[in-house]
Amino acid sequence: MYDQILETAQFLKSKYTQTPTIGLILGSGLSGIVDLIEDKYEIPFKDIPHFPTSSLEGHKGSLIFGTYGHKTLMVMAGRFHHYEGFTQKQITLPIYVMKTLGIEEVIITNACGGINLDFEPGDIMLIEDFINLMGTNPLIGENDERLGVRFPDMTEPYSVDSRNKMKEIAHNLNIDIKEGVYAGFMGPYYETKAEIKMIKTMGADAVGMSTVPETIAANHAGLSVLGIAVITNMATGIQTKKHDHKHVVKMANEAGIRLTAMLKEYLGM
Ligand code: HPA
Repeated sequence: MYDQILETAQFLKSKYTQTPTIGLILGSGLSGIVDLIEDKYEIPFKDIPHFPTSSLEGHKGSLIFGTYGHKTLMVMAGRFHHYEGFTQKQITLPIYVMKTLGIEEVIITNACGGINLDFEPGDIMLIEDFINLMGTNPLIGENDERLGVRFPDMTEPYSVDSRNKMKEIAHNLNIDIKEGVYAGFMGPYYETKAEIKMIKTMGADAVGMSTVPETIAANHAGLSVLGIAVITNMATGIQTKKHDHKHVVKMANEAGIRLTAMLKEYLGM
């Protein structure tokens, strides 16, 4: 995997010469956030060596380099999921590429279902911790010490400092912000009522099908992580209507406007 990471990083360096310091992963329906980037250089995932290609509705499927203020960013408009058949290593390759390119912090976003009854669709939740229910993780197998340690600590998978900054920004912008634990399921089916009941008891506030592998890899690589979840619907059994991906994308699009405003402030700091 190490050689693939270097090859991909070399390729991207040959296309975009500035050094990015912040990585941003955009979940379903959140691709509109790329509009905040200036002097964009965009490349489809399919043209990047060793990148899998994803073609989900609501996911753009390209990598965008560019700037916002004094910050240089590498943005993934779309991501890879385990349920698409990709291995955990494939899903997390971009994280290690980010690290190799010089990135220090990754902002991981997603669309998810709300479990905490204080939440409602459209809410933005800062992720304070995760529960991995995917039955696997990207660190399985021989460890390459060049990428990270064998037994990474997960005391603070999401930076407390970054969350505090975001809370202050939300307060100043008069945006109601939630905070909670994200449970990662494998998908692609929306969880059963019984599964939601179970993870509610476990302490999950929200549930989704992504973010956890990338968070684990980022911590392994020594990157700081800010996790932001958009509650697009209430989880199975909490809401009475059935789930619909189109509705998820629509809700994420709407919340994306508020999220963009918050990210502008955050990146401007
Ligand atoms: N469950 C899992 N993933 C999701 C959901 C959900 O309810 N909503 C959006 N992504």
